[in-house]
Amino acid sequence: MRIGMIGAGHIGATLAAHLTDAGHEVAIANSRGPGTLEDLVEAIEGSIRAVTAEEAADFGDVVVVSIPYGRYLELPAAALRGKVVIDTCNYYPQRDGADPELDDDSTTSSEKIQEYTRARVVKAFNAIYWYNLRDRARPKGAPDRLAIPVSGDDDEAKRTVGDLIDRIGFDVVDAGNLARGGRKHQPGSRVYTAELSADETHSLLDAA
Ligand SMILES: NC(=O)c1ccc[n+]([C@@H]2O[C@H](COP(=O)([O-])OP(=O)(O)OC[C@H]3O[C@@H](n4cnc5c(N)ncnc54)[C@H](OP(=O)(O)O)[C@@H]3O)[C@@H](O)[C@H]2O)c1
Repeated sequence: MRIGMIGAGHIGATLAAHLTDAGHEVAIANSRGPGTLEDLVEAIEGSIRAVTAEEAADFGDVVVVSIPYGRYLELPAAALRGKVVIDTCNYYPQRDGADPELDDDSTTSSEKIQEYTRARVVKAFNAIYWYNLRDRARPKGAPDRLAIPVSGDDDEAKRTVGDLIDRIGFDVVDAGNLARGGRKHQPGSRVYTAELSADETHSLLDAA
């Protein structure tokens, strides 16, 4: 599959390595331009190249957005429209600046990204520390395999993302839609950054 990546930091670079390992073609972007990603691209084996954010959005059948939430209005919205987008972003007001609609909980960060881009957003990888994403991939059925909660409004998009997650070494637990499900795995939720199996994740999401 062709995967575009916007954001090449802790989560973006770690996911890029997993996705190329799994045989996908990756085009990755940051905010400073492809020239600043040469070392990263060289360090990752497999099919990966550095591009602009707009090129990453055009390239991907699936596009990963992994940037500080406060910068989402810089995303190439027109190029993302209708695409399956994996949103790893979390809202931290100290880092991102205050967003009154998130502070009063009238909506969620993923819904705002979906509204802005008109993409089919699946919230995933937001609730796992980057070093667990790097180190804790396991074959299907391994007793210590970690689960990744996902949420989204488009079931087909969720299935596509679920397959990707399973193939890079993590179980998938569907938390529901972005509004209700997404809130169950955003910062402050019980599953957030906890190192949990699929059964444990199911129980906590059911109770939330
Ligand atoms: N770190 C974690 O363990 C973790 C876990 C789960 C979720 N998250 C969330 O996932 C997101 C990414 O986290 P991170 O830790 O990977 O951040 P990070 O290490 O700070 O990396 C952020 C990346 O986003 C890029 N970026 C910023 N604005 C951009 C734009 N307008 N267009 C293209 N690229 C842009 C940066 O590029 P430049 O350097 O060129 O600006 C950088 O490559 C955040 O929302 C974070 O809250 C983080």
